[in-house]
Amino acid sequence: MGSSQRMRLAWFVNYLVPGWNIPWSGNAGAEWMNGDFYVDMARRLDAAGFDAMMLEDGNYLSDAYGGTFEAELKHTVRGPKNDPLPLLPVLAAATERLGFIATMSSSFYQPFLLARLVTTLDHLTGGRVGWNVVTSSSPLAAQQFGMDALPDHDERYLIAEEFVDVVKKLWRSWDRDAVVMDRATGTYVDHEKVRPIHHHGTYFDVRGPLNALPPLQDLPPIFQAGGSPTGREFAARSADVIVSSAKGIDDMREYRAEVRRRAELNGRNPDDIKILFMISPFLEESDELARRRREERLAITDERAERRLLMMSDEIDFSQFPLDQPFPTDLSTNGSQSLLKQFAQWAGDRPLREAAAGDEFEAFPAFGTPETVADEMEHAFREVGGDGYLIFAGGGGMLTRRYVDQVCEGLVPELRRRGLVWDAPPAGLGLNERLAYDQPAPDQRAAASA
Ligand SMILES: Cc1cc2nc3c(=O)[nH]c(=O)nc-3n(C[C@H](O)[C@H](O)[C@H](O)COP(=O)(O)O)c2cc1C
Repeated sequence: MGSSQRMRLAWFVNYLVPGWNIPWSGNAGAEWMNGDFYVDMARRLDAAGFDAMMLEDGNYLSDAYGGTFEAELKHTVRGPKNDPLPLLPVLAAATERLGFIATMSSSFYQPFLLARLVTTLDHLTGGRVGWNVVTSSSPLAAQQFGMDALPDHDERYLIAEEFVDVVKKLWRSWDRDAVVMDRATGTYVDHEKVRPIHHHGTYFDVRGPLNALPPLQDLPPIFQAGGSPTGREFAARSADVIVSSAKGIDDMREYRAEVRRRAELNGRNPDDIKILFMISPFLEESDELARRRREERLAITDERAERRLLMMSDEIDFSQFPLDQPFPTDLSTNGSQSLLKQFAQWAGDRPLREAAAGDEFEAFPAFGTPETVADEMEHAFREVGGDGYLIFAGGGGMLTRRYVDQVCEGLVPELRRRGLVWDAPPAGLGLNERLAYDQPAPDQRAAASA
């Protein structure tokens, strides 16, 4: 019920070191900072018909693991990472239709700053911008901004909700027809169509109005990835698109049903919220080769285990737990609760090394020829519903130009052949319109043209 006809495709990317010490990584290790790698990538995604590129962000390095930055920096887990925002208009200038979602934290930005930044980006990109609202979870991030720690997990979501509300009020502090450009009277803006917002809330006081033009898209789409109950509630109330870290068909189905239920309880039409599931496909000429490549990449090593554990929490030193013992079950965190809980379920009583190294952020393992992977994606799309996928090259530096090509030149054409992705998206759509747009199913298309 309420499922899309076509798959939306977005790609999740970190502006950090892509693959640099694996075959086909070229000189990316030395050159990624100048943005060319990501410009090339954006062009390829645009040509392939992707809807959007989602730019991850974070703002700290962690020495929680063993009290040193060694694991963090040696494996380039969270750094060096450049700020993705200045990259965004560079990518947009190199592409025609691709949308770009910028991640910004409601714990560190101010609503006014963000509202103005996003509207500026929206104009610079011809209406192709979205905002991924994250609340951030680490005290180490808070300590970059003069705070010891962040507010409690659930309160962060209350702050985020008010934050989004203020941003939307600012975007709407100008009527859409406020710019009159009346040469006769020498009037550029009709001042009666611009109003202060006088927001006085629990967390923010903002007078307004915006001193920039309102966004081209009216309200640029809000992306969210809350995994905990509070996070899901926030997403159901405030998000236009939810990127989910659900694992397995049952979990995906449950996640989607719950978000839709919560949306309805909040008086929203559940179909107005799109859900994308994350996958990290391994594509090769044969299923066997793809399986082998995946096994090689996901080999159970201390490095992979460390990478995963580093991402889990900055409040717990996971190096204290022996890698050959099971994951302790009595941990709690004020950080990302759902990640910890999900991992504990996944780990069960396996040795920590095996559980951590074998864990990928993906809805289901996808590997094989383009046909095989398209089969899996189509199967889950029909079984679960939802609106498509967020491709991620996986943690651990798997992203190369070759990887992008395997998806863009192998997988996407196969999905298109099945009528699951755009033939050709209409030109000039804003990201909001584009995400909302459903092309007719192939049989309806055939009927329409008969
Ligand atoms: C696909 C995906 C992308 C995410 N991107 C970011 C990001 O760029 N920056 C960030 O700080 N957190 C990011 N997160 C973390 C989420 O914002 C959120 O903290 C996480 O899903 C845990 O939710 P919870 O706090 O409700 O437990 C992402 C999560 C997912 C699943």
